Amino acid sequence: MAATTLPAFNTLVAESISQHSQIPPEQIIVLDNSDKYCPDGIKTDQSQAEEGESLAAIFGTMASLNKGALLDKNLCTGNGGHSFRSALLSATDELANLAQGRKVRYVELGPEPFKSSVIITHLISSGVQLSQYVGIDINPESELTMRAALEPIIGPDRFAYLVADFYKTSADDLPPLPGSDKEGETITVMTNLGFQEGNDLPSRLGPMLSRLTRPGDLLLSEMQVLPSSAPSSDASDSESDSDVSTTSITDSKLVEEFYHHPEMLKFSSLVGKKFDRNFDLSPQSRPNSSSEDVGGGGASSNDYEYIFRLVPLQLSNVGEVAVATTLVSLPIPGGKGKNYVLTNSCIKYTREQFARARETQGKFGVKGWRETGDGSVVFQIAERRH
Ligand SMILES: C[S@@+](CC[C@H](N)C(=O)[O-])C[C@H]1O[C@@H](n2cnc3c(N)ncnc32)[C@H](O)[C@@H]1O
Repeated sequence: MAATTLPAFNTLVAESISQHSQIPPEQIIVLDNSDKYCPDGIKTDQSQAEEGESLAAIFGTMASLNKGALLDKNLCTGNGGHSFRSALLSATDELANLAQGRKVRYVELGPEPFKSSVIITHLISSGVQLSQYVGIDINPESELTMRAALEPIIGPDRFAYLVADFYKTSADDLPPLPGSDKEGETITVMTNLGFQEGNDLPSRLGPMLSRLTRPGDLLLSEMQVLPSSAPSSDASDSESDSDVSTTSITDSKLVEEFYHHPEMLKFSSLVGKKFDRNFDLSPQSRPNSSSEDVGGGGASSNDYEYIFRLVPLQLSNVGEVAVATTLVSLPIPGGKGKNYVLTNSCIKYTREQFARARETQGKFGVKGWRETGDGSVVFQIAERRH
């Protein structure tokens, strides 16, 4: 069930996949992004209990990715720059600085427990007075874990949760501040982490982020980016393209590597299972995991394939961007070939494009950046202007 009908990001992405591969559009199963996280998002024959387990497991894949990323002191350091963790802490320092002594309501879109615990602990130890935490998630399975992670840090009175679609929520829907804290004396620090800013068109995200904030509020967003020199289209074909520099091949490889992380494979398997109970990407049943052998019917003897593609998409005000996509194949009963479920689509802006998307599609101005040493992940800090 689509949260809203227009504009349909994943439909545009599926069209581009079709144009840049041999998969006919009618063989691509397209979901609205939030459908993957929502109890009645995808019609399946799973029982309610199985559906709950599946949503909890989907939430678990994201949490586990973050836990691993924060524990690895060398992740993304490149030639000695910020690790993922230190870039996040440095961005948090900047938030504390920009709060300028005002009390903070922390609003997390699409909550996860590990980064939020690190950020909130660091904000508090930097002297920020935290009035309230509000998690907003369409997936009801996240609330208990978030409560268990954050209440020991902030106390039960300051924890609030909305099981809601953030596209249908506004700043007026946020729960009242606890105790004697007053709206006028508190700013919102809103986070949109885990590359989720890439999961939709900026023309939909900008107004949503604006609705949820008020002038002076701050926004922290985490994105995996491509270097400015990288081709912004069809970089996965770059090995056969003599005009593409070695650096850009390597850099788009970092994106591809991320989508081959075991937790990302697990995520796609969980989505695949909603369509086919037998879905299985375990190594023994998956001799090929390929970014090249797409479509063409029978490129692999295996029914259940995992496919990565980086495809171009034209965005108004931003230009042509690259979109990382993953698909899983499902056999059509009766030996009639395969369908492909689009399990992920995430825009991979360059940093300049990400700034343009922020500043042209909402009411925000970019205030600062932190990036990992390898340049693959940025934390963008923006302020709601008017
Ligand atoms: C890509 S995951 C990122 C999770 C987390 N922010 C992180 O940093 O890892 C996207 C998250 O957004 C939530 N989500 C997706 N669409 C949503 C919507 N329309 N309304 C509320 N939450 C949504 C999902 O439940 C999921 O937790």
